Amino acid sequence: MTAPVLRVQDLVVNFTSFTGGILQRKERVLRAVNGISFDLNAGETLGIVGETGSGKSTLARAILGLIKANRGRVMWEGEDLTLLGEEELRQKRKEIQIVFQDPVASLNPRMTAGDIISEPLWTFYPHMAPLQVEERTRGMMKVVGLLPNQINRYPHEFSGGQCQRIGIARSLVLNPRLVICDEPVSALDVSIQAQIINLLKDLQQKLGLALIFIAHDLSLVKHISNRIMVMYMGSAMELSQREALYRRPLHPYTHALIKSVPIPDPKLAARARQDSWLAGDMPSPYDPPKGCIFNTRCPYKVSRCQTDVPALRRMEQGDWVACHQAEDLDLSIHLDSASGIN
Ligand SMILES: Nc1ncnc2c1ncn2[C@@H]1O[C@H](COP(=O)(O)OP(=O)(O)O)[C@@H](O)[C@H]1O
Ligand code: SF4
Ligand SMILES: [Mg+2]
Repeated sequence: MTAPVLRVQDLVVNFTSFTGGILQRKERVLRAVNGISFDLNAGETLGIVGETGSGKSTLARAILGLIKANRGRVMWEGEDLTLLGEEELRQKRKEIQIVFQDPVASLNPRMTAGDIISEPLWTFYPHMAPLQVEERTRGMMKVVGLLPNQINRYPHEFSGGQCQRIGIARSLVLNPRLVICDEPVSALDVSIQAQIINLLKDLQQKLGLALIFIAHDLSLVKHISNRIMVMYMGSAMELSQREALYRRPLHPYTHALIKSVPIPDPKLAARARQDSWLAGDMPSPYDPPKGCIFNTRCPYKVSRCQTDVPALRRMEQGDWVACHQAEDLDLSIHLDSASGIN
């Protein structure tokens, strides 16, 4: 077993705002990331999944130091990134990169593909010879499946999928060791999503990268992840090996997410829709439920779920879950053509 390259320990990120006007000013705290811990090994892919508002992007930004954590540590090869100053953190960007959700919006429309991909090289290696920069940029375009002769084209001349390839090339141009992909395919057509996921998987294997792949849908992370963390309202509900998670999820929220994945076949979908697996909406993050945070939507809740917070604990087979009833529930799932996941 190798030592983890990234170790996130008890990370907390709060957003504070004020309500009530000047006279009755009241502070409200939103706990967007609530004590998240996990390890990531070199060359490993961790999927992070949860509905919108679960805290996935905030977690990603806190790991990168783009948002200050209120508590906890982000250990990168033994060094705590939360203690670094701005310049030291900036230097770490050579090793840790991010790919954003909306490829079109995240690319500067006034820069060519070549300028966008090579910008990190100019920033970190300002004395690099221009010919060498161009060579590396064309090389990166090839690696991500773009034609090097498109180097002088602007983002609007590319499709959404191609724009995301530009974003990926830019994230890889410095040879990082970890890339965090924050919903990299959510803004793309379904037909393009698999192409981008396969590209990331290939690159991850070829380059030996560690990858964090964030999505709001469990069908998107299945083929790329070694392990998957399921988040709900800032907390980890489950952290399991990929095979185990889809066969026998440990947490009722994971189970509901798997069962809620859209089914492509309209006939099967109409039949399956009779069961609603994920009841109700996520509660207000300013007034989270007491006890288990999932208890307002959980079909398996018992009385202690409304008073006691379940700790994330390790089960016999090595996977982690935060549910009082994990030993007693059998949430086995048989994935077949009538499910949205294959
Ligand atoms: N800059 C911010 N200021 C205040 N609240 C925020 C900010 N960014 C995110 N939030 C809130 O934090 C929670 C988690 O958001 P986010 O990390 O974006 O979740 P996800 O990426 O899973 O959709 C949400 O309730 C969101 O409204
Ligand atoms: S602790 Fe209780 S409410 Fe929470 S997921 Fe488990 S059974 Fe459901
Ligand atoms: Mg997000």
